[in-house]
Amino acid sequence: MEQYKNLKTEKDNNIGVIFINRPDKLNALNRETVKELNKAFSSFQGDDEVKAVVLTGSGEKAFVAGADIKELSGLDLSSGKEYVLEGQQLMNLIEDFKKPVIGAINGFALGGGTELALACHIRIASENAKMGQPEVKLGLIPGFGGTQRLPRLVGKGIAMEMILSGKTIDAQEAYRIGLVNEVISQDQLLPHCKALAQKMASNGPKAVENCIQSINKGMEKPLGDGLLLEAELFGKTCATEDSKEGTKAFLEKRKPEFRGK
Ligand code: COA
Repeated sequence: MEQYKNLKTEKDNNIGVIFINRPDKLNALNRETVKELNKAFSSFQGDDEVKAVVLTGSGEKAFVAGADIKELSGLDLSSGKEYVLEGQQLMNLIEDFKKPVIGAINGFALGGGTELALACHIRIASENAKMGQPEVKLGLIPGFGGTQRLPRLVGKGIAMEMILSGKTIDAQEAYRIGLVNEVISQDQLLPHCKALAQKMASNGPKAVENCIQSINKGMEKPLGDGLLLEAELFGKTCATEDSKEGTKAFLEKRKPEFRGK
């Protein structure tokens, strides 16, 4: 496994796990950590053994307490834009990842932390999780996708309220508004997310990849165009070896052996 300064990574069966590991700074995302996350995700993308990824924070207090405020304080017109474009590139890599990415939100997920969670395909929170977009309190705006992905997930009205007030919400509120899929006790969070990832890892990898693409790209299109995209991806998936194996295995009453082809 690669060595990182601000991350820990491991493989557990077919699951890649990434821990953001700056607990003394509540796992705040500095530039170096963003670069390392890019590297870690790219490495899991190219690793055929890894079928799904769980992303979480080290320690019991924070997933990610935001972009690093020390770095934010020195930005200007052009460096500010460049800074967020770098962050957005990471979020896009995660959102368009070919394998399921589950965000295990184990505490504070503020600002860039909520944005990182929003880029994951699925979010599961521990009972002590706290989420929000507090940038306006610093005289800033969200820049790692918060003004775009939050309204798409929870609706414009709730996103406006959260972003303009900068308020912090607890795990139950995040669940109520659909920002997280489930709330789990902290000690069960990681095992639960790994088990969910394992369930996804047992499905046809090409089918899973095409579902992610169809949902992500389809959400950006009018319904008719989205349905056309789905039809194209359905056809493509029918041409895979895995689709032959999956349907044959059902008819032969046995478990399929998917090869990701
Ligand atoms: N950027 C840089 N450092 C951060 C940080 C961030 N986003 N969030 C926390 N830290 C650092 C603190 O400066 C502190 O470092 P120090 O020990 O060297 O002083 C350390 O992490 C612990 O944080 P602290 O504030 O002492 O913990 P707390 O339990 O009292 O409060 C929070 C926790 C999350 C409420 C508080 O840290 C906070 O408000 N963080 C900023 C959240 C934010 O605005 N994020 C969005 C940025 S756009």
